[in-house]
Amino acid sequence: MGRTIGKMNDLKNSEVINRRRVINGEDDGLMQIAPLKHPFADEIFRTMLKNNWVPQEVNLQEDVEQWKKPGFLTENERRVYSRSLAFVSNLDGIQTANLTTNIVNQITSPEIILAIVRQAFEEALHVHSYATMIEALGFDPDEIYGMYKKDQELYAKNQYVLAAVNKISAQSFATGTFENDQLFLEACVANVILEGIYFYSAFLNFYVLRRNHKMPGSAQMIQFINRDEDMHLRLFINIVNTIKKEQPELWTPEFQERMVKNIEGAVEHELAWGLSCLREGVLGLNRENLTEYLHFVGNLRLKALGLPKKWTAENPFPWLDEFTQGNMTESNFFESTVKEYSTGSLEW
Ligand SMILES: [Fe+2]
Ligand SMILES: [Fe+2]
Repeated sequence: MGRTIGKMNDLKNSEVINRRRVINGEDDGLMQIAPLKHPFADEIFRTMLKNNWVPQEVNLQEDVEQWKKPGFLTENERRVYSRSLAFVSNLDGIQTANLTTNIVNQITSPEIILAIVRQAFEEALHVHSYATMIEALGFDPDEIYGMYKKDQELYAKNQYVLAAVNKISAQSFATGTFENDQLFLEACVANVILEGIYFYSAFLNFYVLRRNHKMPGSAQMIQFINRDEDMHLRLFINIVNTIKKEQPELWTPEFQERMVKNIEGAVEHELAWGLSCLREGVLGLNRENLTEYLHFVGNLRLKALGLPKKWTAENPFPWLDEFTQGNMTESNFFESTVKEYSTGSLEW
């Protein structure tokens, strides 16, 4: 359904803006972002603009030498590296398509649309970054992109991610009914899971290697990507929490339970995949600390969405902060603020 210009009427701009909603709002199709109804999206957009980078900035020479040097990386480390690269490259591919075909066309807040468009650009940049790594290290692209066809846990994980984002992928899907609005909200929670659980676990593997002086260029690339994903996570946490405020009827106890289950399911899939990578353990990463880490991250996402914590867990890797400037472990995401501008007396 195409966007149409608003009808001719006597409404003041402030009144139009007051009627704005994340979904199901007035949409004049003109992308007027002054003033703002959802300032969190503009704040995030401005931060995204400061995070400009390109994959060519990263020097992968040392990684290439290390990868080629016989015995420098153990078989286990090589498997963790290539499986993590396979998963994140699949995941960013899924996300680029998901944002542009499923999500952005349902949004009726121009400032949120702008932030998602920028996000989609960043996902494209990430797709490109992984291609740069695949090429530099001399992988057969099929070995990485197509790994899921031969790797049971990766296949299961990709299937689970796709099932979550594809609930709203029918071309005829439109918000505006209780059921579809709940499905859309669920898809936004799936985005929080994708950005905030799946990526974070794969990133951990690259950081663990880096901490042991292995594949430093790759870890730097991942740091750039991680900084972007952190903003994506903030964006979708705010989107979910704002839809909750605008349409509280959607956030039923049953729905909340479903979201908790979705997050638990994601943590379980992530753990199954992570453990299948690690096998007997790699560079201090093992069954116990990976489990605790994923429970810790799962709790952060539950808390950010106003859902009860599920696990008792602390961050077992406090050193992650130095790699991510706090991105991986930060829990106090800024709350979304929905402002109602009083008609005729706009304050900004
Ligand atoms: Fe990404
Ligand atoms: Fe992302």
